[in-house]
Amino acid sequence: MQLKVNGVVHDVQVPDDMPVLWVLRDVLGLTGAKYGCGIAQCGACTVHVDGQAMRSCILPAASAAGKAIVTIEGLGPGLTAVQRAWIDVDVVQCGYCQPGQIMSAAALLRERPNPSDADIDRAMSGNICRCGTYPRIREAIHRAAALMKGGS
Ligand code: FES
Repeated sequence: MQLKVNGVVHDVQVPDDMPVLWVLRDVLGLTGAKYGCGIAQCGACTVHVDGQAMRSCILPAASAAGKAIVTIEGLGPGLTAVQRAWIDVDVVQCGYCQPGQIMSAAALLRERPNPSDADIDRAMSGNICRCGTYPRIREAIHRAAALMKGGS
């Protein structure tokens, strides 16, 4: 089947029901999306599919064929406002959950360029961080919103 990832169409010989996360990591070598729980409960594997944040660990490859998959590696070009804000606020602790956090934050900001704390809590509630970086994630999303508006 053909999967379009970060703007590039790949011919991949994989079973229809192979999770997209395995295709990304094991077939295409894109290891930004992480395996966490494997049951769509932690958000570490979050990617965008046609602009929506989705859990790639339970998404069958066949259902993503013909859609635009974007991983943390393809979020740019260059560092996005979300990624710059993450660095500015020094969000990351161990880092394992953070690609998924950033992908969820990016999807939120596309839908709501000026999210409230409640919007952030709702949109990010499916992304677990066992290091407890939640307050910095919230701060970084507000900062990214300001950066996107041209503030500093
Ligand atoms: Fe360690 Fe989130 S930074 S799990």
